Amino acid sequence: MDKELSSIHYDKYLQLNKILDAQKLRSEEFEKPAHDEMLFIIVHQVYELWFKEIIHDLNSVMDIFKPEIVEEKKIGIAISRLDRIAKIQKILVDQIDIIETMTPLDFLDFRNYLLPASGFQSFQFRQLEVSLGLKRENRISYTQCAYSGVFSQEEQDILHQIEAGDSMFGLVEKWLERIPFLKFEKFDFLTEYRKAVDKMITIEQEAINGADYITAQEKHFRLGMLTETNKYFQTVFDEDLHNQKVANGELKLSYKATISALLINLYRDEPILRQPFLFLQKLIDIDELLTSWRNRHAQMVLRTLGQKIGTGGSSGFDYLKKTADKHRIFYDLHNISTLLIPRSELPEMPESLKKKLNFNFSNKS
Ligand code: HEM
Repeated sequence: MDKELSSIHYDKYLQLNKILDAQKLRSEEFEKPAHDEMLFIIVHQVYELWFKEIIHDLNSVMDIFKPEIVEEKKIGIAISRLDRIAKIQKILVDQIDIIETMTPLDFLDFRNYLLPASGFQSFQFRQLEVSLGLKRENRISYTQCAYSGVFSQEEQDILHQIEAGDSMFGLVEKWLERIPFLKFEKFDFLTEYRKAVDKMITIEQEAINGADYITAQEKHFRLGMLTETNKYFQTVFDEDLHNQKVANGELKLSYKATISALLINLYRDEPILRQPFLFLQKLIDIDELLTSWRNRHAQMVLRTLGQKIGTGGSSGFDYLKKTADKHRIFYDLHNISTLLIPRSELPEMPESLKKKLNFNFSNKS
């Protein structure tokens, strides 16, 4: 039998007595009240609440992608949840403006009372990084100890469990690997794509060689740059080279998944590929916004602490700056843009394949 519906008061529903009773200023405890410690606590608490919502949404998207066959109608839900995460992240980046209203001297009024508390001990932040797909071996280490060493045994076990299971990156990779259409009847996507790339490169080389407004030296320089770009293309035409790059950590996404992501990006206007394209775009948004947050937080730390070491024992700004570059998760999806060719050069798909990629409902009998 359904539970009988009872009324509830706003205060009780939101458990405001707990939330609003959770700002205990250490500076007051030590009888040296520092005005800005309230802001410092509240901003961190708000972050942690948003982290909770992000993890809640991300887990639901991962659940959609766990089955062997992803229900197509759920991809729309996944896109809207990822979109929500990205919107929350924008607020997280903007919130740094608020913490920056606290000057370095204001912070020094209470910083000593926090030791050795640090953002390093944010379990939810680590949970989020690991769930997205940041691997232990790809982390920048700041001490001899593992990043998870600052947590209780129970929390460490949870992090290990997430690391051992499917991450968002891993699930997307498997899903991309399963995407059909790379070979369809006589259409072999890679062969056709290669022809189009060769044509595009020849056109670019001819344009540089034929330009009478640039010097021979400049031509030589530009042709050299073109050769560098072409090296990216070679990875797509050579599976072994790609695998080698994955093995040495230059790339993360598997060969098959990369080709599928390329196909989706190139033929994004085909109705059936539209949703997968938007889904990949949202992952790029999330990766980009997390990087923006890392950069913004590092800048704020530089402004507040200068070159002081962090309360968690890292080098502070230098460490944080490096994480912005190194802790990216969906870098390979950004990199697909290197491999794009103009729409006008896209290989024409056979009609039978186009039909498969279209919605074919018609009222005409
Ligand atoms: C005045 C404000 C802040 C200062 C001076 C500051 C300083 C630092 C420093 C120096 C670190 C490096 C670790 C260490 O050695 O302690 C760090 C890491 C971190 N902070 Fe902050 N922080 C501030 C505000 C915030 C806020 C509002 C958040 C929001 C939750 C936050 C979250 C983090 C996280 C998650 C890390 C770990 C980053 C990583 O390892 O990639 N910090 N912080």
